[in-house]
Amino acid sequence: MVIKKKKKILITGVAGFIGFSLAKKIIESNNYNVIGIDNLNSYYIKKLKYKRLTLLKHKNFKFYKIDLIEKSKLFNLFKKHKFDIVFNLAAQAGVRYSFKDPKSYTNSNIIGFINLIEMIKNFKIDKFFFASSSSVYGDQKTYPKKESSEINPINLYSLSKASNEQFANSVSKTTNTKMIGLRFFTIYGPWGRPDMMIIKYLISAYKGVGFPLFNNGNHFRDFTYIDDAINICISLLNKKIIKKFDIFNICSSKPILITKILKDINKYSKKPLIKKKRRDRADVYKTYGDNKKIKNFLKKDIKFTSYYLGVKNTCNWFLENKKIFD
Ligand SMILES: NC(=O)c1ccc[n+]([C@@H]2O[C@H](COP(=O)([O-])OP(=O)(O)OC[C@H]3O[C@@H](n4cnc5c(N)ncnc54)[C@H](O)[C@@H]3O)[C@@H](O)[C@H]2O)c1
Repeated sequence: MVIKKKKKILITGVAGFIGFSLAKKIIESNNYNVIGIDNLNSYYIKKLKYKRLTLLKHKNFKFYKIDLIEKSKLFNLFKKHKFDIVFNLAAQAGVRYSFKDPKSYTNSNIIGFINLIEMIKNFKIDKFFFASSSSVYGDQKTYPKKESSEINPINLYSLSKASNEQFANSVSKTTNTKMIGLRFFTIYGPWGRPDMMIIKYLISAYKGVGFPLFNNGNHFRDFTYIDDAINICISLLNKKIIKKFDIFNICSSKPILITKILKDINKYSKKPLIKKKRRDRADVYKTYGDNKKIKNFLKKDIKFTSYYLGVKNTCNWFLENKKIFD
């Protein structure tokens, strides 16, 4: 009997929300060996990142604390492990923070991304998936946005993501690596990011601190549940890919008004004190993606988790794990 060697996957940003959720699902499937890297930065509470890492402890998983900026460490890692697939989920996330600390975006999202692409090219990786963002669309007049729609990045974060897409597209012409950009739309769920609305609101209520509500909550976001986003990533991992470069929206295609979601969270948690703020210059009015391209590509009618169940699961997770945020 021939025992097939398991393929090796590198997940960058593995202590982050999406990286952790993806690694967990792949490890549980036992089909791949997973190597994760993260610089464990303090953009948000580190305790949450360490806690996620403890849940990944498994014989099919190895972790290295490496920053994408550390080119020689990346080189040694790629030399040692001979990866088949790379998933880049490491980045400086957040649109508002890009006005506070622009350098962290150029370091991680631009220089770090270029370092990684260089390794992908040198080590002839089969498939390279990288996180882009709905924010590349910026403010628009018509919705839903398709992958072929014009982009309009309005801050350094979205500009860094748009540049990643263009850079990968151009490099893909001179390599055999299949390069796939994933435009994630407001991913939420258990183990979610504390700088993003739902968990931030729950933390404010728990700690009794004010919750900053921008533009009276008059924004729409295409909230997409983490399990749905991860199922799509796993389907892509196992899918035969022909095109050298492609981009997909990862979204439920059901935008929800912020004030509506806050009302629904109030069913599970006490209400925090609301601190009204003007519209932030980094915020777009609405995100709303078209998800037909990914559905057609995967040849399946992806079932998206209902928003009510997603919010309920997220609130219940928070209430069980709120001590992490003490
Ligand atoms: N969560 C969302 O709704 C969303 C939406 C659109 C795009 N994205 C993108 O998806 C990716 C993952 O997002 P997330 O929500 O999991 O964010 P996250 O902040 O939870 O995870 C990112 C991880 O990357 C690590 N990291 C940052 N810079 C690094 C560097 N230079 N080297 C190594 N590690 C580094 C961080 O420590 C963190 O653990 C990011 O590229 C983000 O921009 C996320």
